[in-house]
Amino acid sequence: MPGKLQNRLNDLDGREWLYWTDTLYITAYPPDATHPLRKKHGAMKPPEVMAEIIRFFTKRGELVLDPFAGVGGTLLGAALAGRASLGFELDPRWVDIYRTIQRDFVIAGGVFRRREETASTGTEIDGEMRQGDCLELLRQLEGESVAAVITDPPYGINHGARGFPGETNFNMTSPRRSGDLGQAPDLESFLARLQDIGREIHRVLWPGRYLVMLVGDRYQEGEYVPLGFLVAEAMRQVGFKFKGVKIWSNKATRRPLKPYAVKSVFVPNITHQNILILRKE
Ligand SMILES: C[S@@+](CC[C@H](N)C(=O)[O-])C[C@H]1O[C@@H](n2cnc3c(N)ncnc32)[C@H](O)[C@@H]1O
Repeated sequence: MPGKLQNRLNDLDGREWLYWTDTLYITAYPPDATHPLRKKHGAMKPPEVMAEIIRFFTKRGELVLDPFAGVGGTLLGAALAGRASLGFELDPRWVDIYRTIQRDFVIAGGVFRRREETASTGTEIDGEMRQGDCLELLRQLEGESVAAVITDPPYGINHGARGFPGETNFNMTSPRRSGDLGQAPDLESFLARLQDIGREIHRVLWPGRYLVMLVGDRYQEGEYVPLGFLVAEAMRQVGFKFKGVKIWSNKATRRPLKPYAVKSVFVPNITHQNILILRKE
């Protein structure tokens, strides 16, 4: 049709597309019905936010991959958005939780509902979760077979802040599992290993499509660690173009501010995450 641009990436109209290019991204999704099961993980992402990201970077029916799938925030988001999905997760505890959600919940009226509460009209959660080291599992995928990779890697550096025991409720490292990226001994080895995984992600992605990574920055040993930008640079070095960032904060689940070094020195309360947008060109 003359004057109408064909949309090569997603199913959004121009107005919706424009809205999503804002680099500031404030959401207010409260915990959903699957949250009591997923919260055992502690670093899980809201499926509704993942669904919004997926709706931008894919068309309906396309395949989304999450190599660090946890308890399935991306896979559940893909189900809400009507996309196919595949997840890899090293720790069987998280795989089991995702499979329990698949067994006990369906999507009805655009939200997750317990199966017994719906009159058998719900849609199944059909994303597939495979247990194992994502580097090995990625190697088993065909090249150019995935429409988008949307993921939230473990950060590989200690989360705690001195003097604030119980700083996080993160429970996502698997101490005895080799290949656990969260157990990388230092930042350099974390980034090097992430690059090995990034090369495989680059291979399996369709050309022209996107790797989207959610990465929080850190404050450690008295210094700000811009982990988001270090990860983006590491991915640039393995062939991705760094296209931009959305600064995300979910108001509904934001933790209260902590009085770090009040009246002494500036220490940030990091309440945002970086959504890194990288493209295979
Ligand atoms: C930040 S969490 C992802 C949470 C996920 N977005 C969710 O909503 O549940 C990162 C996950 O990566 C997993 N992981 C770490 N190293 C891995 C590896 N080599 N292969 C696959 N999964 C890995 C961890 O067990 C952890 O569950």
